[in-house]
Amino acid sequence: MKVLITHSIPGNGVSLLRGHNIEVRVLEKKKVRKGDLIATLKKEAYDGMISLLTDTIDEEVLSAVGSQMKVIANYAVGFNNIAVKKAKEQGIVVTNTPGVLTETVAEHTFALILAVATRVVEADAFVRAKQFTGWEPELLLGVDLLGKTLGIIGAGRIGSRVAEIGNAFGMEVVYHDMQKNKALEEKIDAEYCGSPDEVLRRSAVVSVHLPLTDTTYHCIDAQKLSLMRSDAILVNTSRGPVIDEKALISTLRQRKIFGAGLDVFEHEPAVPAALRKLPNVVLTPHTASASIATRGEMAKIAVENVLAVLHGGKAPNEV
Ligand code: GLV
Ligand code: GLV
Repeated sequence: MKVLITHSIPGNGVSLLRGHNIEVRVLEKKKVRKGDLIATLKKEAYDGMISLLTDTIDEEVLSAVGSQMKVIANYAVGFNNIAVKKAKEQGIVVTNTPGVLTETVAEHTFALILAVATRVVEADAFVRAKQFTGWEPELLLGVDLLGKTLGIIGAGRIGSRVAEIGNAFGMEVVYHDMQKNKALEEKIDAEYCGSPDEVLRRSAVVSVHLPLTDTTYHCIDAQKLSLMRSDAILVNTSRGPVIDEKALISTLRQRKIFGAGLDVFEHEPAVPAALRKLPNVVLTPHTASASIATRGEMAKIAVENVLAVLHGGKAPNEV
């Protein structure tokens, strides 16, 4: 059997597969273009594939996949890069890596919240630029979190963990999701809001944790941003297109909110110059799940899903 991995991944996943007598082909280190992926898939038949969230596996790519392809394991929790319905029609099982990255992404989310609130990135740049000439009462003033309202939009695994951390910081937690999260409400004092608008209106910090789908695309647009408090912080570690980036840039530029922390962008890897120039935003390059341990675990899970399917069993993480 043969498995294609579109990029080198950390840990011993490749040797694990080879230990099961599986031939493994790992593509070059840089990102594969869709055309190259199609050519690769047409040239040789594979039984399984491990893909990255940056690989577009749409209907066109799936049409190039041979009939022996049984599983596509996405090295990510999100799977908006894959045409799942079409894959299923072709009898291909699609899997993701939920769970293992929850804590890491939640901690990164809180790092962004704290970075924006305490202006730590601006402060670091200030010191490095030798601008620190003495303590001043009004130098780089930030905002406190204690007693403030933390609003979670999308209270799944990651959103719930961010809510718990916020609760530990003494924040009041409000959240919106399609339905109440009973497990979260049993753990902490979290108040359900019937609409995202209510969360946006009330919160000092809004953290977005939505999968990217047709219904969540631009769900935070100019109108929604206008509901936010002038002292509010907006953080997104989910998927860029969930927020209308242009509208957010304009909101930040006009200082209609205090600031934003973004790990994801609308047209990755492009980050608009207008966003990069703003002092009131902290930017990270889609690294919210990037801890040494978690990236290794994600590889292990992707491999386990491939092995399960190729051995005729049920994938532990079918989407
Ligand atoms: C990262 O963005 C992931 O979906 O795992
Ligand atoms: C107070 O600032 C609050 O966020 O409720």
